[in-house]
Amino acid sequence: MTGPKGQRTRRYVLAQRPATSTGPLEEGVLRYEEDVPVPSPQAGQVLVKVEWMSLDPATRSWMNGTPGSLPPSPLGETMRALGAGTVSASEHPDYAAGDRVCGLLGWQEDAVVHGATLRRVPEGVPLNASLNVLGIAGQTAWLGLHDIGRPREGDTVVVTAAAGSVGSIAVQLAVAAGARVIGVAGTPAKCAWVREIGADECVDYRQENVSAACSWLCPDGIDVVFDNVGGAMLDALLPHVAPNARVVLCGAISRYEGGHGPAPLHNWFHLLFKRVRMEGFIYLDHQARFDEIEADLLPRLRNGELRSREHVVEGLTAAPEALGMLFDGTNTGKLLVRIGHS
Ligand SMILES: NC(=O)c1ccc[n+]([C@@H]2O[C@H](COP(=O)([O-])OP(=O)(O)OC[C@H]3O[C@@H](n4cnc5c(N)ncnc54)[C@H](OP(=O)(O)O)[C@@H]3O)[C@@H](O)[C@H]2O)c1
Repeated sequence: MTGPKGQRTRRYVLAQRPATSTGPLEEGVLRYEEDVPVPSPQAGQVLVKVEWMSLDPATRSWMNGTPGSLPPSPLGETMRALGAGTVSASEHPDYAAGDRVCGLLGWQEDAVVHGATLRRVPEGVPLNASLNVLGIAGQTAWLGLHDIGRPREGDTVVVTAAAGSVGSIAVQLAVAAGARVIGVAGTPAKCAWVREIGADECVDYRQENVSAACSWLCPDGIDVVFDNVGGAMLDALLPHVAPNARVVLCGAISRYEGGHGPAPLHNWFHLLFKRVRMEGFIYLDHQARFDEIEADLLPRLRNGELRSREHVVEGLTAAPEALGMLFDGTNTGKLLVRIGHS
């Protein structure tokens, strides 16, 4: 179908599953198409000019076809991604041309999606914030910390991947709740940022033994573990949990690329005799609460209480290589692709 006024667009299609589940994507996994007709939106649909695209750790599991937050991205279709942009044409009663929206827009410059899948970006908020503090990062940190972690004044909270997009917001929400917060991150510069946003301490796990550091940083135990890493990192924290602690299973980035087989937890018995609750969650299951979460996060974003960093790469064609940054730790903040429309 030829699109509005014969408009053409560019996109990446998931052509085949990666042969190896780790490391850089091989040739042929993604197919770049640069002369694609933009379909006209049908009843209920909206055409969005995508300006920002989010790269998330789950992207790799959607490609690999391994278990993840959503079913695998279908082969032969535009690769899945969250994005934000401006409505250019609408056949949905809630949206009109010029509206600023976010949703699952895919690895493409122009997306036709059902209007019911979109969220409006609040007035005065930059589009990219809807993929960061007001989007996946903020919603995830808020749900994991408040629903499962439930820190009380004076609790000790440990956040892993603490300098990242989810982790850095979890740190700040825990500080705001009156907790003593210890971050874990992968470089001295990242640890400095984690302290700057309010953490009492930050352990550089590449230079220090995390379990030994917890012994002296958390002598009374950890009340809330907010874990983004999984595997050996989670196992190292479990002996330090306090009685009745909460372990928030937010992510397992050390495991997403797969290929390493199962990761046994040797220290699980601490959960038993210390009566600890360990619980996972997927933020997309809680979409009915996004307005409530936004109502809490938006004023904190506006008054500067919640800070964030973004790592921006330029142009859709930068996305395949940039994805690897999440796994080697070279991203310094929420990893975003700015889509140029030339
Ligand atoms: N439950 C949900 O609904 C949900 C939603 C969104 C995200 N998440 C999860 O939240 C976590 C963080 O995601 P994000 O988007 O905010 O990414 P991010 O933290 O901004 O970036 C990923 C960071 O993870 C760290 N990392 C990568 N491999 C590691 C390893 N093997 N060991 C230790 N640290 C490692 C790196 O930081 P260092 O340099 O510090 O190592 C890297 O910068 C992920 O696990 C993700 O799947 C969960």
